[in-house]
Amino acid sequence: MAEVLVIGGGGREQALAWKLAQSSQVDKVYVAPGNGGSRGSIENVDIAFDDVDSLFAFARDKAIALTVVGQEAASEAGVVDAFQAAGLAIFGPTKAAVRIESSKTFSKDLMAAQGIPTAEFNNFTDADAAREYAKSRPRPVVIKADGLATGKGVIIAESVEAVDEAIDTIMVNKAFGEAGSKVVVEDFLGGQEASLHALCDGRTSVIFPASQDHKQVNDGDQGPNTGGMGVIAPVSWITDEQLARINGQVVQPALKGLREQNAPFTGCLYPGLMIDGNDIKVLEFNARFGDPEAEVYMRLLDGDLYEILSACARGQLDPAMVQWRPGFAVTVVLASGGYPGSYQKGLPITGIEEAEKLDDIVVFHAGTASKDGQLVTSGGRVLNVTATAATLDEALDKAYAAVKLIRFDGAHYRTDIGRRAG
Ligand code: AMP
Ligand code: GLY
Repeated sequence: MAEVLVIGGGGREQALAWKLAQSSQVDKVYVAPGNGGSRGSIENVDIAFDDVDSLFAFARDKAIALTVVGQEAASEAGVVDAFQAAGLAIFGPTKAAVRIESSKTFSKDLMAAQGIPTAEFNNFTDADAAREYAKSRPRPVVIKADGLATGKGVIIAESVEAVDEAIDTIMVNKAFGEAGSKVVVEDFLGGQEASLHALCDGRTSVIFPASQDHKQVNDGDQGPNTGGMGVIAPVSWITDEQLARINGQVVQPALKGLREQNAPFTGCLYPGLMIDGNDIKVLEFNARFGDPEAEVYMRLLDGDLYEILSACARGQLDPAMVQWRPGFAVTVVLASGGYPGSYQKGLPITGIEEAEKLDDIVVFHAGTASKDGQLVTSGGRVLNVTATAATLDEALDKAYAAVKLIRFDGAHYRTDIGRRAG
């Protein structure tokens, strides 16, 4: 029997661990560092996601059969390169391949070189040149810091003054540090956003049903952006024909572009798309599963995740391995009071057991910890309440019935997840 290691501490990693633990070939799943949700055959290991030496020593000493990278920062830290160099099986992109997410200028250049549909753009290292170009484009115009900026490095400028302010913030005042020494300036795209995910073994890609995240904190898509407040899948207005087109015109050319740069991509490639009728454009690429998209996908996946991800790591992904249950899955995120701003930690949580007694409910922990035997809050997004059902409405009703049983001081959630889907 195999032992598996998942790297990360969020709801995404709990969902991956939960699905891996269901494999008949797996008897133990370690999560580093994990959270308060690990139980049964899922066990936390107190190693940080970017402590490459300790992760490597753990995997070698325990003869871990497969390591799964949840969070892109672990790839950035070089964990995949270190494991691959020693012949340890690992699912996730190398440092070179993760640039498709971590550098927006790299990603846009790759899209342009491979003819992947995306907003018209230019990259700049010079603030005045960036200003001049941005002012020459139709408004609004979008200005993006090159590097990772915790989701805040994208500014939509409606006026000439806003362009100046955005360039000052990113390039002159370096509000996001070195992430702002380069920028992408691109045209604004209208339409509906959707999250696509594709498992990749460097060459072969298998595209998932589409999902839709709800990024703003409040109902009606109001308020500041968060990591994601809820997800539905599949998205009924995205057709199978469009999915095939996205695989052929977005995912496959991206894999080809990375291979050409000696950076073959193994892992989950997640393009964020803007869809306007039949017009599909890439907003960005992520080099990991979305969170909370993974929570929904793991509820719908009908297949052995251990076999699938091991095959990816070996470069032998077979599309026939990846099957989907019929019906819909949703997740509703319960967040700490104040999130995405500052919030209190350490508040006791109750009601999860009752919630999970309802049909088809699984609660994946995100920002939770166990303190003196009591489950408490420890992050902004605290819990992902997931439900499955034959219809989207039923899945939403089940999820919200479960959400109402869970309590902690200040808990908040969106009440309109899935209500804008056609
Ligand atoms: P990104 O990190 O590049 O996905 O940008 C974050 C968010 O900014 C996206 O999810 C979109 O909501 C928005 N955004 C980014 N680029 C554009 C664009 N070219 N047009 C319209 N909205 C955009
Ligand atoms: N749910 C959005 C993300 O993972 O980036």
